[in-house]
Parts: sequence; C-alpha cells; structure tokens
Amino acid sequence: MKNMDTSLMQAGKNRTSKAKTDQFYDDVISGLGSVPKHLHSKYFYDANGDKLFQDLMNCEEYYPTNCELEIFSEKAPEICRAIIGDRDAFDLIELGAGDATKSTYLMQYLLEQGADFTYLPIDISENVISCLNVTLPVTLPGLQINGLNGEYFDMLEKAASISNKRKVIMFLGSNIGNMAVPEAEIFCMELRNHLSAGDMLLIGFDLKKNPKTVLAAYNDKEGITKKFNLNLLERINRELNADFDLSQFDHYPIYDPETGACKSYLVSLTDQQVNINGTEAIHFVKDECIFMEISQKFTITQTDHIARHAGFKPLNHYFDSRRWFIDVIWAAE
Ligand code: AVJ
Repeated sequence: MKNMDTSLMQAGKNRTSKAKTDQFYDDVISGLGSVPKHLHSKYFYDANGDKLFQDLMNCEEYYPTNCELEIFSEKAPEICRAIIGDRDAFDLIELGAGDATKSTYLMQYLLEQGADFTYLPIDISENVISCLNVTLPVTLPGLQINGLNGEYFDMLEKAASISNKRKVIMFLGSNIGNMAVPEAEIFCMELRNHLSAGDMLLIGFDLKKNPKTVLAAYNDKEGITKKFNLNLLERINRELNADFDLSQFDHYPIYDPETGACKSYLVSLTDQQVNINGTEAIHFVKDECIFMEISQKFTITQTDHIARHAGFKPLNHYFDSRRWFIDVIWAAE
C-alpha cells in the first residue's frame, strides 16, 4: 500500500513537470515563430534567473526595490493597521513572492501586533517556494506559511479552496509592470473576480520619473540585466535542447517617456539559425530583435483609474521620499 502511494505520487509529479515543460516549449516555439519574435518574461525565473534577479536588486542603478523597502520600513505601522482592519483572521497572499524581503518587513510587524493570518506566497519558481517554506519560519518565528508553486490564478483558486477567510493580496515590486496598461487593467479585473467585497489588494507601482533614471535601471553598467535576459536563452538551451549561441546576441533596452513603457530586447548580431529539440529551426536575420520584457511605469492617476475600472476602491497611497514608487491599498467593492 505504502509503495503504491509513493509510485502514484511519483507519476503525478512526472506528469506535472512534463506538462510544465510542454507549456514552456509551446510558448517558446510560438513566440519565436511570431512577428516580431518574443519570449515571455515569466520564464526568466529559473534557479539561475532567481539569483540574477537578486543581484539586480542589489545593483546601484536598480532603484525600485530600495524605494519599496523605504516605504515599508517607514510606513509599516500604517499599512498594517489598514490591513488588519477589525482584527478578523485573514489569508495574506503574495503573488510573485520572490525572496519575500519586502513582505517580511510587514509580516514582522503583523506578528508583533498579534494579527491572526496565514501567509500564502505564490510563485512560478519552484525553487523560490521550497526555499521560503524552509527559511521564513526561522526568520519569523510563529509564522503560519503555506507556499504555493504555480501560475497566479490557478494558485488563487487553490488558496480559496483551502480556506474561506478574508483575503489580503500583495502584488509588490511593480511586478504588475510586466504588463502594458490595458493588460494590467484586465489582470486587475481578473484579480477582482477571484475576490469578495471587502478583500484587499496591496499593490506596488513604479512611477514615471526622469527617463535617464528609468533607462539606467534596465541598462546597468555591470551588465547584470543583460545576463538576466541572456539567461532565458540558456534556459531554453538546457531545458528544451536548443543551441542558442549567447555570444551572438546583444541586450537593447529602451524607455519611452510618453507611454511609460520600458522594453528589453535581445538583438541578433548575425544571420543565424537556432535549432530547438532537433525538430524546429528558427531563423534570425542580422539585427533582428526578440522582445523580452516590458517594465511599465505609471502615473498616480493611472493607478487610481485602473483600480476603479477593475472594481476596487483606492484607499491609501504610500510613497517613498523621492516619490519614485507607490504602494496602494485597494478594497474590493
Ligand atoms: C520583477 C518585473 C518588477 O520589471 O523591474 C528587473 C524585472 N527586469 N530588471 C522589473 C526586471 C529587469 C522587474 N520586475
């Protein structure tokens, strides 16, 4: 009986990881088969990509993390008071938790206040979730944690099936910036559909600012952003049996101060062919670009508009001292 359970579990596990690889493969083939060629930035975050993103957050030019840390260290009591409300128990869900440094600030304060909550970090990276499940209970003694590895909305449905407590969702670090404004709006509407009236969203937006400051954050001198982008090609080589020659691609970031769109591309330095899995051949002409990522910058008015459009009421606005970044609390109406 015991043996059977184990083998069933193993079969289940193999099926999920195969399904994940199939999805990755399909997305890569369709993205590189499109005009213009593109890849999805959610695939940046394998174990190596997680590490490169850590390096990025520590590099001099990448300001968003420090801005949000400043907000949380200065405003934790206010933010927590708004979240705790009438002190009923709640599920604190974090979308794209990463290393959870920023949310740890808030949770430390919540625990000190005796707030009754369970932390449910959601992340696309398996590596991230297994690390958090082990390390966070050590950093935050007494923390109830249940890490969920998968896509945001699948895992939100899972969270709803686990408990019917009030939900407070955190979507920090301007992760929402990986969507252009219309997409961000649709995303927030879908979030609202997964919530009930009175549930809350604490969400961070990187704001429009001097275009040179923005561009520098995505064009750091050490070349970490470049490595971060190239790492996705390396991941495709390793996981999908492809033969990208990384030395034949350059990194090209641009920022449009009118729309607030910061975009990253990889540029093919020669005419070349890349083979994937021995079955697909992708042709590049010299100077052809792969669109890798958007990091959208917003105005405050835009964030309020997105809230209302998606069925939320913007309650509080928290800024860093330079007003480069904003965290807002929205209540589901
Ligand atoms: C994790 C999506 C917020 O867009 O600023 C950092 C990712 N990309 N440098 C961002 C990223 C290049 C980051 N987000």
